[in-house]
Amino acid sequence: MKELTSSQVSTVVADANSVDAAILSRFSARAYLDKPVEKSVLEDILQVAARAPSGTNTQPWKVYVVQGATKNKLVNEVCDAHNAMATHPELAIEYAEEYDYYPSKWVSPFIDRRRECGFGLYGVLGIGKGDKDKMHLQHQQNYRFFGAPVGLIFTIDKVMGRGSLLDYGMFLQSVMVAARARGLHTCPQAAWNHFSKIIFKHVGAGDNEMMVCGMALGYADEAALVNTFKTTRVDANDFTHWVE
Ligand SMILES: Cc1cc2nc3c(=O)[nH]c(=O)nc-3n(C[C@H](O)[C@H](O)[C@H](O)COP(=O)(O)O)c2cc1C
Repeated sequence: MKELTSSQVSTVVADANSVDAAILSRFSARAYLDKPVEKSVLEDILQVAARAPSGTNTQPWKVYVVQGATKNKLVNEVCDAHNAMATHPELAIEYAEEYDYYPSKWVSPFIDRRRECGFGLYGVLGIGKGDKDKMHLQHQQNYRFFGAPVGLIFTIDKVMGRGSLLDYGMFLQSVMVAARARGLHTCPQAAWNHFSKIIFKHVGAGDNEMMVCGMALGYADEAALVNTFKTTRVDANDFTHWVE
C-alpha cells in the first residue's frame, strides 16, 4: 500500500468517479465465492481504514480476522447455539447483546424501512411470511459469514463512551469502501452480537472488550439470487434541510 507522500492539503483525488463507484457499489453481500483473500490485501484494507477519524484520535477499534480452522469451530458452535435458541427461546437471556443496536420500541418511518428490508430480502429468496424454518436457515447464514472466507470481529474497550461507536462506524465504512476498491465485498453483521460469549473464547478477546459487530468479507458470488437484492434509499432532498 502506498503512503500519501505529497501534502495532505494539496493532494487531489484524481477520479471522483472511482471514489463514488467504491461507495455506490457497496452493498451487503450475502453469498460468497470459495476464493481466498490474500493476507496482504487484508492488511492494506485495514491500514487504509486505520486513517478513519475518531474523537481526539482515540482510534477505539480492535479487529480479529478469523479464518481457517478457528473460523470453522466458531461457526459450528454459534450455529449450534442459534439452533438451541430456536427450540428454547428462554436462552435469549443468556445470549443478550451487550448494547442495544435497535430501539426497544419501533416507530414509523424506521419500522416501515425495516419491514421493507426484511420482506424484500426474503421475497427475493421466495421465503414466505410464515415460513419459520426457511427464515431460521437464512438467518443462520449470518453465523456462517454467508460463506465468506474471511470473518471480521470488531470489539471496543468497555471503558469507551457512546461517541466512540460513532468513530467505529466511520472505521467500518472505511473497511467496506477499501474492500470495494480491491474487488471485494462485505456484509456488516450485528447478528453476531448475541454470541460474544462464544466468539470471545475462540478469538481470545478479554473481559474488558465489548462486541461491536461482525463482518463477512470476500469475493461476492454474482450468480447467487440473494445478491440480486437491492435496498432503496430516501432521496437526499427528503432528509436535507437547507437553512439560511
Ligand atoms: C452495523 C450494521 C449491522 C448489520 N447487521 C446485519 C446482519 O446482522 N445481517 C445482515 O444480513 N445484514 C446486516 N446489516 C446490513 C443491513 O441490513 C444493510 O446495510 C441495509 O439493509 C442496507 O443495505 P445495503 O447494505 O445492501 O446497502 C447490517 C448493517 C450495519 C450497518
